[in-house]
Amino acid sequence: MQQHEQAEDFLEDFATMSGFGATPGGGVERQAGSAADHETRAWFAGWLERAGFEVRHDAVSNQFGLLELVPGAPYVLVGSHLDSQPLAGRFDGAYGVLAAAHAAREVARRVREGSLQPACNLAVVNWFNEEGSRFTPSMMGSSVLTGKLPLETALAATDRAGVTVAQAIAEPGDALDLTPPPVAAYAEIHIEQGRGLEESGTTIGLVDRTWAASKYRIVVHGEQSHTGSTVMADRRDALYGAALVIVAARELTDELPEGMLHSSVSELELAPNSPVTVARLVEINLDLRSPDEAVLERANALLEERLAAIEERARVTIERRLTHQWGLLAYQPEGVELARSAAAALGLTHAPTMTVAGHDSTNMKDVAPTVMLFVPSIEGISHNEGERTSDEDSVAGVALLTEVTARLVAGELGSAAAFTPGG
Ligand code: GLV
Ligand code: MN
Ligand code: MN
Repeated sequence: MQQHEQAEDFLEDFATMSGFGATPGGGVERQAGSAADHETRAWFAGWLERAGFEVRHDAVSNQFGLLELVPGAPYVLVGSHLDSQPLAGRFDGAYGVLAAAHAAREVARRVREGSLQPACNLAVVNWFNEEGSRFTPSMMGSSVLTGKLPLETALAATDRAGVTVAQAIAEPGDALDLTPPPVAAYAEIHIEQGRGLEESGTTIGLVDRTWAASKYRIVVHGEQSHTGSTVMADRRDALYGAALVIVAARELTDELPEGMLHSSVSELELAPNSPVTVARLVEINLDLRSPDEAVLERANALLEERLAAIEERARVTIERRLTHQWGLLAYQPEGVELARSAAAALGLTHAPTMTVAGHDSTNMKDVAPTVMLFVPSIEGISHNEGERTSDEDSVAGVALLTEVTARLVAGELGSAAAFTPGG
């Protein structure tokens, strides 16, 4: 297929795919294991099958499109995630999955016509529950595949209604019987979700490191009482304590060098959540991130001090549980160099960049040579219906991912198994 045909075909498929779980504001809502997620996955399975891939699912419902090119050889995996946040944009994850499918189909064509000599097999992957909005932790499917999260823990995770991952993935009746194959290398493309590329007029970000992150579940315990009749000095108001935690998390960013700490509290549940009753319990999710591990460590220590002070001031007790963390680990320089050389060959402007958000590649880079690419986000908008990437940048990314995948399948980062899932 000519490059402009691949581009048109990609944009048409992307528009079709964006119809699943479409929201009135031009976004999508397809939380992991929801009906809209299943519909998107079913459409995607049909696409893969028509393109000649064998569609299989592993035990945590990572969806694979497998293509054997060299019997017995390990696989190059290319993918991202189709699940979304609530009221989300069309691009986060889904762009990368469809780009991977188009890249893989073109690489398979090159192998068939004899212009590419494969050293590895090829699989497109749609990781289950990257977002972590309905079921925590995020990056669930790739965490299980890489052995960072026990399968049983993932399957037992529940949403707010008490539905487990096991129940949510059983619904469409897919056989969850694939033992994922040995992995030679992994590649992923994603929108930047920031302004860096747009502001510097760069088409491609070559991700070389990730910001470090610490995510906490914080439970504030108070005592239920009457909002009117309880004397102020007697109160143990869990919501007041939580409010102080929220403010403290935000103000930590002012105490550390500018731009070096991002923090938020993004989720809150309270009991009994009743108009005339002081809250006895509040649970929040607190997220700290930094491009410098020492800054993150300092933020964690300051947070601990603040929590102790808040316990006294609000007469509450606070539990803090680390639910997910990752460090500032680098992506392999050989993968960054492979991507740089492929971008240069296609005449695309490119620059090294860090990722602030976590991705499935954040897990995969720890077990196999990994290439992570970004395309620009318009105004950096993400986790919002207004998330956009221009058509021109979208198709440039597909062309680059195709070139990168071709080089990986040819064995440029090695053709031996770097990682055997479960092995
Ligand atoms: C993604 O999972 C993130 O936490 O950035
Ligand atoms: Mn994503
Ligand atoms: Mn996301």
